[in-house]
Amino acid sequence: MATTMEAIVYEEFGGPEVLRHETGAAVPEPGPGEVRVKVAAVGVNPVDWKRRYGWVEAFYPTTFPAVPGLEFAGTVDALGEGVTDLAVGDEVLGWTKTGAYAEYAIAGTVAPKPRGLSWEAAASLPVAGETAQRVLDLIGVRAGETLFLHGAAGVVGSVAVQLAVAAGITVVGSASESNHAYLRELGAIPVAYGEGLAERVAAAAPGGVDAVFDAAGHGVLPVAIELLGGEGTADKGRIATIAATDAAEYGITFSGVTGAPDAVRAALTAQARQAVEGTLAVRLAETLPLKEAARAQELSESGHVRGKLILVP
Ligand SMILES: NC(=O)c1ccc[n+]([C@@H]2O[C@H](COP(=O)([O-])OP(=O)(O)OC[C@H]3O[C@@H](n4cnc5c(N)ncnc54)[C@H](OP(=O)(O)O)[C@@H]3O)[C@@H](O)[C@H]2O)c1
Repeated sequence: MATTMEAIVYEEFGGPEVLRHETGAAVPEPGPGEVRVKVAAVGVNPVDWKRRYGWVEAFYPTTFPAVPGLEFAGTVDALGEGVTDLAVGDEVLGWTKTGAYAEYAIAGTVAPKPRGLSWEAAASLPVAGETAQRVLDLIGVRAGETLFLHGAAGVVGSVAVQLAVAAGITVVGSASESNHAYLRELGAIPVAYGEGLAERVAAAAPGGVDAVFDAAGHGVLPVAIELLGGEGTADKGRIATIAATDAAEYGITFSGVTGAPDAVRAALTAQARQAVEGTLAVRLAETLPLKEAARAQELSESGHVRGKLILVP
């Protein structure tokens, strides 16, 4: 067994240039109860570059040297003491404890990868699936209601659209014009974001909006409050954001913490099954070699990537 591996490492906050591609990084050893995986594909998330800039220390603290990356798909390759629920050779998808931009990582919460689900599709699911379901649950949106989803064509947004539509919820989703056909395919009513958004959403939802999921930020919270009746009337418990860090100033919840591991594992297992059955899909934008992690993060930061960026060690 190799003791060194390929990994992306950074030792200070900053731009993409702080990311170093190493070929002699130490392979992590699983402690008691832990599992090591050989990473096959890594999902790139906006939080990877937000963390690299040092912007998310309050809820996602960094210890240097750091390896970026939350989500992966790969194969269990070593077991720590006392592990009985997984075996070497099991194919899994989920979160890492040590950073996914690496050949090997210590797994956090994982679920079995169904045979037939590609590594890329599997690595795209954990963060978007968990986040989308967590926020839909938080705002309590139900069958027969109407949801406004800001940033509906993004990775999290598009998964939330699919889960909501499948649950019998009418979804009005904002996106760039070039994503409107995609949103229609997913079963949402597309609207353009920017000036006049509240009027366009109201026209698309003549019966009114019951809840708002902000999956993009960019100052939409006043619009969300207006759509639910305005300041003083809006039930702010029915609005949540995953992107607006100034949410508390509006009395709105910023949702950023994953749920209990058992529930997360159960939901991811179900979503992976839906993905292989073809009822839940994440668009794949581009697959790049791990050494191009800095470019992948720059693309993600551009804000309009159409789907998930994947890195392959
Ligand atoms: N708190 C959490 O637990 C959590 C978890 C996951 C993600 N997030 C955050 O959620 C956000 C989305 O993540 P993602 O992975 O879905 O990213 P993504 O796939 O890159 O999607 C970004 C979205 O932002 C939209 N957008 C870009 N500029 C906009 C603007 N000026 N106004 C409105 N929308 C705009 C894009 O729409 P078009 O492409 O249609 O223009 C796209 O839908 C990121 O900020 C990420 O950090 C938070």
